[in-house]
Amino acid sequence: MAVTGLLLIGFLLMHMFGNFKMLIPDDGKEFNEYSHWLREFGYPALPHKLFLWIFRIVLLSAAVLHIWSAAKLRLRANANAGGKRYRSQKFMEKSYAARTMIWGGILILLFVIIHILQYTAEVLRFGYDNPDRSLAPFDRVLAGFSEWWVVLFYAIAMVAVCMHVLHGFWSAFATLGANASAGARKVLKTLAWIAAALLYVGFMIPPVLILFGVIGR
Ligand code: HEM
Repeated sequence: MAVTGLLLIGFLLMHMFGNFKMLIPDDGKEFNEYSHWLREFGYPALPHKLFLWIFRIVLLSAAVLHIWSAAKLRLRANANAGGKRYRSQKFMEKSYAARTMIWGGILILLFVIIHILQYTAEVLRFGYDNPDRSLAPFDRVLAGFSEWWVVLFYAIAMVAVCMHVLHGFWSAFATLGANASAGARKVLKTLAWIAAALLYVGFMIPPVLILFGVIGR
C-alpha cells in the first residue's frame, strides 16, 4: 500500500504542476502543447501514444494494487473485530481511520471515472454540448470550469483526495519505518499536512481563476 500510495501521490504532484501551464497567459498554447507532448513523447522512435499508454498502464496497475491491498487489510480488520478483546480505544481509532480511508477511496475512484469521462474521453461535455466537435484540452478545461457547479464538484472531490493524502502520506512513511520517535512522528504529520494543503491549493487555483474570468481567452 505504501509504495503504490506514494507513487500515486507522485502522479498527483506531477499532474498539479502540469496544470499550472494553464496559468501562462498565451491562450492555452503551452497547455495544449504539453497535452500533445504527452501523446507524442518518443515519436518517431516509438509509435504514437506508446509512452502515454505505458504511463497509463503503470498508473492503473498502481491504483489496482492499492485498492486490492486496501480490500485485503479491510477484510483482515473485519475478521479481527470479531473478538471483543480487540475493542480497545486504540482499535476503535484505527478502525475509524480505516473506515474513512475506504469511503474516501471509493469517492476518489468515482471522481476519477467522471474526471476521465469529462477531460480525456470527452463523453461528459460539461459547459459545452456539441457532440460532433472535439475541443482542444485548454478549451475543454475553460468550458468545464466556467460552470460554478463543476468547480464546486471539484472543490468537494479535492477535499476527499487531500484527506486521503493526509492520512495516507503519514501512514505510508510509518509503514516504511520513518515513524521511529516522537520527533519523527511530528515531522511526518507536519509534512503530511503540507503535502495535502499544497495539493488542495495547487489543484484548485486553475478552476477558481477560470470561474472568475482571470484565466480565459
Ligand atoms: C482541479 C483539479 C484537476 C484538474 C484541473 C485536472 C485536469 C485534467 C485534464 C485537463 C486532463 C486531460 C489531460 C489531457 O487529455 O491532455 C486530466 C486527466 C487526468 N487526470 Fe486530472 N485534473 C485534476 C485533478 C485530478 C485528480 C485529483 C486526479 C486523481 C485523483 C486526476 C487524475 C487524472 C487522470 C488519471 C487523467 C487521465 C490521464 C490520461 O490521459 O491517461 N486529476 N486532468
